[in-house]
Amino acid sequence: MTHKPPHLVVLTGAGISAESGIQTFRAHDGLWADHRIEDVATPEAWTRDPARVLSFYDARRDQVRAARPNAAHRALANLEARGFEVNIITQNIDDLHERAGSRNVLHLHGEIMMARSSVNPRMRYPLGRDNIAIGDVCDQGSQLRPDVVWFGEAVPAYPEACEIVAEADLLLVVGTSLAVMPAAALVNELSLDAECILVDPDEQLQAPPGVVRWVTAAGEGVPALVRQWQRDARLF
Ligand code: APR
Repeated sequence: MTHKPPHLVVLTGAGISAESGIQTFRAHDGLWADHRIEDVATPEAWTRDPARVLSFYDARRDQVRAARPNAAHRALANLEARGFEVNIITQNIDDLHERAGSRNVLHLHGEIMMARSSVNPRMRYPLGRDNIAIGDVCDQGSQLRPDVVWFGEAVPAYPEACEIVAEADLLLVVGTSLAVMPAAALVNELSLDAECILVDPDEQLQAPPGVVRWVTAAGEGVPALVRQWQRDARLF
């Protein structure tokens, strides 16, 4: 009898990209220490001062363009390349999972390298080397905005994320403070016999009940777990 290796679902947050040089949000030197959410990441901020919002995301995009995937992104892509069923659900707006080679990536909070119409969310455009300027419009003539989910907005990918988590044998959570809903509630969608592991160096972080903690940086913990699963897979 042959058994399939476990279906792995990975929920990532800003911490997985920290070792690539992308700032996290809630650290003492994180993004939200220097910027007020209500000035740069809400629909109201966009209405009040779109130029300020665009310039905030231009800086984020510069950081992403300068970054490279790290050992954690690469280990997850490698696992998928070796035939494991891997779904990544990321809160990150960077494209480092894709650039590492992961193919099943769901962006809960959107993608910084895409623009979208400020009226019709389905009208999306890859930005490539460009940024968005005031006056840049979609094919229907509406101003473009970053294709990211702001505070106070719906999270359209959430129902699909719930379905993916419900199918998981193992949920690996990496580098997130689990401070933002609804992403933080995804762990509740796991089936009762599934396992959940949280890799994050913050030992103060409150893990949901039943979650196994790996108190380590992603660049160390994720490749170590992946090596372990690849060894275990020989048993399947
Ligand atoms: N490896 C793994 N985790 C790390 C590392 C690292 N090298 N460095 C820091 N971390 C952890 C921190 O300990 C923290 O728990 O990453 C986590 C980052 O938490 P936040 O800054 O709150 O980021 P995140 O959880 O992704 O935020 C969720 O909030 O502002 C919004 O939309 C934004 O998607 C974001 C959401």
